[in-house]
Amino acid sequence: MTVARKPRLLTGDRPTGPLHLGHLVGTLQNRVALQDSHECFLIVADLHSLTTRSKREQILELPGRVRSMVLDLLSVGIDPARSTIYLQSGVPAVYDLAILLQMLTPVARLSKIDTIKDMARSAGLAESEVPMGLLGYPVLQAADILMANAELVPVGGDNEIHVQVAQELAQHFNEAYGPVFAVPQPTISSTPSLPGVNTIPDGSAHKMSKSLGNTINLEDSSEEVARKLRTLPGPAPGEPGRPPLFAFSEAFLPAEADDLRRDYDRGVIGFAAVQDRIITAIDAVLAPFRERRAAFARDRGRVEEILVDGTITARKVAYETLGRVREAMGLEPLWAGLVQATQARAEARKRPVYPGREH
Ligand code: TRP
Repeated sequence: MTVARKPRLLTGDRPTGPLHLGHLVGTLQNRVALQDSHECFLIVADLHSLTTRSKREQILELPGRVRSMVLDLLSVGIDPARSTIYLQSGVPAVYDLAILLQMLTPVARLSKIDTIKDMARSAGLAESEVPMGLLGYPVLQAADILMANAELVPVGGDNEIHVQVAQELAQHFNEAYGPVFAVPQPTISSTPSLPGVNTIPDGSAHKMSKSLGNTINLEDSSEEVARKLRTLPGPAPGEPGRPPLFAFSEAFLPAEADDLRRDYDRGVIGFAAVQDRIITAIDAVLAPFRERRAAFARDRGRVEEILVDGTITARKVAYETLGRVREAMGLEPLWAGLVQATQARAEARKRPVYPGREH
């Protein structure tokens, strides 16, 4: 009897800073929930971080950042026995695939993409300084997705267009060279994004984002969580709209959020008490994460072992796909033909040849 293969899911993050509550409600909870029904690949996208951070000092920060990203994932309940966590730069077949996909990608398709401009802007790059690698960001992402034959790619809205590029490339490739790739589907998170905190001026006017520095991080202590949450202003009781503070109660106290808001508007409960309830709720979510993180961190070499095991799995998958790509595009037959002719020549040389008796 054949066992139906689980659909494959691939997603991940650049190791540019700690994961935070916005990631938790936007994607991490979903990743944890999908571990049984899907074969999950989670990428630590260090190559993508090089698109804007390729200085030597920035690369030297990677070991620490990579390790804490893996700890973030493990702490929320990603189970290395069920999910494959891997380091992008440890899978060279992906670079090979990316270069082949570049041949199929019109530059005009990439230069229209706003996320590339946004990333250049937040990295402080002038137009003349945008590296080719940053322009190629979506193509490299497509290589990640297609090398794993991922069917499902859960991402935030800002990555949707990159997954569309992957989709287009898969279709284009399959039509041009034969059916090699699964065509990936983006799944865009439907949870409203969490606002930031005011650890920077006006932080709560933006969504929580590691590049802005308005985050509550998964690794933050109880004290840090409380301090950061208290930076949020209280709306005046009865003030309309969705004030940032109450966005947190909707996310972390979903059953009580409406009552809490009503009680606050009616003056039944004061501002400090609202803050306390939310802080306690967030802390209840984070407490088991802290324990799991500490346990993995204490187990010397364990985090590295998980990443190495996952990367070895990803390498196998990637080489297998690359082989099929090279075959379909005619590059493998090209090489094989050369090798074959060379072998035939070597064989021919081995046979003694007597003058006048060439056969
Ligand atoms: N672009 C993602 C980010 O914003 C990281 C990433 C790299 C990714 N490769 C991927 C996401 C493949 C989903 C699928 O950090």
